[in-house]
Amino acid sequence: MHVQLALLALGAFSVTAQSPGCQLLGTAVMPSFSQEGQITLGGVFFLHGETGGKENQFTVKPTSMDCQGVNFREFRLAQTMIFAIEEINNRTDILPGVTLGYKIYDTCASVTFSVRSAMALMNSYEEMRSDTLCSRSAPPRYLCVFELQEKYSNFFRTIPSDYYQSRALAQLVKHFGWTWVGAVRSDNDYGNSGMATFVEAANQEGICIEYSVKFHRTEPEKLLKVIDTIERGTAKVVVAFLTVLEMYYFLEQLTLQNITGFQMVGTEAWITGSHLATPSSYRILGGSIGFAVTGAKISGLNEFLLKLHVSKNTDNAFLKDFWETAFQCSLSKEDNSRYTKPCTGSESLTELKNQYTDTSEIRITNNVYKSVHATAYSLHNQLECTPHKGCAKNLNIEPWQVSPLACVNSVKHSNKTIHFLSDSNDCIPCDLEYWSNEKRDRCVLKTVEFLSFEEVMGIVLVIFSLFGTCLTVLVAVVFLAHKNTPIVRANNSELSFLLLFSLTLCFLCSLTFIGRPSQWSCMLRHTAFGVTFVLCISCVLGKTIVVLMAFRATLPGSNVMKWFGPPQQRLTVLAFTLIQVLICVLWLTLSPPFPNKNMKYYKDKVILECDVGSAVGFWAVLGYIGLLSLMCFVLAFLARKLPDNFNEAKFITFSMLIFCAVWITFIPAYVSSPGKFTVAVEIFAILASSFGLLFCIFVPKCYIILLKPELNSRKSLRGNMSARVLKS
Ligand SMILES: *[C@@H]1O[C@H](CO)[C@@H](O)[C@H](O)[C@H]1NC(C)=O
Ligand SMILES: *[C@@H]1O[C@H](CO)[C@@H](O)[C@H](O)[C@H]1NC(C)=O
Ligand SMILES: *[C@@H]1O[C@H](CO)[C@@H](O)[C@H](O)[C@H]1NC(C)=O
Repeated sequence: MHVQLALLALGAFSVTAQSPGCQLLGTAVMPSFSQEGQITLGGVFFLHGETGGKENQFTVKPTSMDCQGVNFREFRLAQTMIFAIEEINNRTDILPGVTLGYKIYDTCASVTFSVRSAMALMNSYEEMRSDTLCSRSAPPRYLCVFELQEKYSNFFRTIPSDYYQSRALAQLVKHFGWTWVGAVRSDNDYGNSGMATFVEAANQEGICIEYSVKFHRTEPEKLLKVIDTIERGTAKVVVAFLTVLEMYYFLEQLTLQNITGFQMVGTEAWITGSHLATPSSYRILGGSIGFAVTGAKISGLNEFLLKLHVSKNTDNAFLKDFWETAFQCSLSKEDNSRYTKPCTGSESLTELKNQYTDTSEIRITNNVYKSVHATAYSLHNQLECTPHKGCAKNLNIEPWQVSPLACVNSVKHSNKTIHFLSDSNDCIPCDLEYWSNEKRDRCVLKTVEFLSFEEVMGIVLVIFSLFGTCLTVLVAVVFLAHKNTPIVRANNSELSFLLLFSLTLCFLCSLTFIGRPSQWSCMLRHTAFGVTFVLCISCVLGKTIVVLMAFRATLPGSNVMKWFGPPQQRLTVLAFTLIQVLICVLWLTLSPPFPNKNMKYYKDKVILECDVGSAVGFWAVLGYIGLLSLMCFVLAFLARKLPDNFNEAKFITFSMLIFCAVWITFIPAYVSSPGKFTVAVEIFAILASSFGLLFCIFVPKCYIILLKPELNSRKSLRGNMSARVLKS
């Protein structure tokens, strides 16, 4: 996939550079190492691990990219290829009289460079010139890349197909009984196709994959998301189908964020990467398992690698880079060189310990070695060579004639499916209300969450609710006992008692919110709450209006009090409450609240909640309460300085302030907190606003009635009033 994309990009590039006549389309890449020979073998390695600058965005002509970060391990692979070719050239029993040459390209681990290298290998350097391209009628040969795998049987591998590795990894995971795993992969062919096979095999093995996420090493933001997914997931086993480069960045982030405690399952690309295991990353990597490519010993290789010296090939830019990086010294005398220390020339690779010199565990290296030998043996057969006598055929051999050898696996996937000896527990998704148990081998009922009477939060709320109820009843008793005293009589006792009654209901209605939601409790909850609160606010509103009217009544020539006597007060309260009753009836008949099992929020829990049915109904009920309380607040605010009995308007203003504050803070909390906390928040708001009303409106009066009875007289009341009138 990547290859094709890159080729398309090259197409776009040639269009933007279009001009009349034929032009040089770009400079060809030169091999980093080459040697003339009768038959040339091509090699593509990422001798550098990074490209400087940005990856192409394919919107402008690509700027040339620098290659950075000498990769010692890849250089060892390239050197192994050279070693194998030299060895074969030295031998008389393989390809006698034929010299093999090589062209080794550096891909810098970049897709663009890889494609350019592949093209350069297939087309000779001259063909990149447009004049020859233009004069040719034959299509450029690189088009073959599109169908490389189908058309050309000369695409072999010395490493087992990832198809088998993926399936083996699935069995390995199964073997340890890990049936719940997470997966992360490199976003390239290696990771994507490897993971696709793994997922398929894992499904057959009864392994459930919680998430499968990918990133490319050039995408740090994606990597952060991947890390986040892993951290938030519940799987403790992570299958990492990553190339060594992605693994490096992945590990770096895990180390940085101190994310440990995961069992890593790795691919051959990194599982033996000893350089990854630093003391800090060991906490993450320790205990990782996976399959490694078979190790081997290649005699003479170590000596060959160590023999290399920059002085033997001073023109080679890569070798210079390698040398300077390895010895941290500068070969050039210019000031802008990376290292200040000049190289002495007496450096020797034998003193160094790095991935280039370390051949104690060679695996992939052996595959490079084997592939050169496989090719050589194949050529040997094709050319009908016999030891010491030379080859019978001439060297005009086409690449496709190089046939596979027994030791090499074809890249073609076999259609054979592998059957396994074992009790496969199929991966059955649990029903919605179920969730897998700890061992992930059975479905168990999800835990159900709702605010119950048994839990601490429920008990506390019930206590507060009952406390509020008792307190209200107590206030009512006090008022009843002193119903003939001026303070009770003066402040329209009828409304006071009605208010106390509705407050009692308010406290009690919070109880309907606790307990397992049922059809009835859901319908009762919001409607009971809506109606009692409106009753409550209407009473307060009535009181406020009375204060306003009473003041006007004292003014000469006004008889407004006639217009708002007790019958009108009753009617107002009744009318306001009826509107809410009407809203509730509409809501209940059109789309009533119903008990609902919310499984969206948690994977392993079911939230039992009351779905409001019609959101419009719910917000209409709340909105109406809001409207009334706002009205009440505004009127009380206007009346707060008017002379009335015992500063009632002032206390009402204050209580409405509390009321509005509580419900305004309720809205965001209600919308954002899930499950039983939503309910708790709602109950809390109900209790808080009820207590607010009770304390602000009734406590000051009870104080006077019980503790300052001398103030509870007609005289002091009037005095108080006239004093205020004078003041204002
Ligand atoms: C090949 O032969 C040459 C000349 O004898 C020798 O210098 C070189 O080390 C040999 N190379 C290998 C890989 O054996
Ligand atoms: C990392 O986490 C472990 C336990 O989770 C803790 O013991 C350790 O101190 C942490 N290390 C750092 C560097 O934060
Ligand atoms: C694999 O099998 C499928 C269906 O049986 C077939 O279409 C496909 O061509 C086969 N592939 C190979 C590579 O044999």
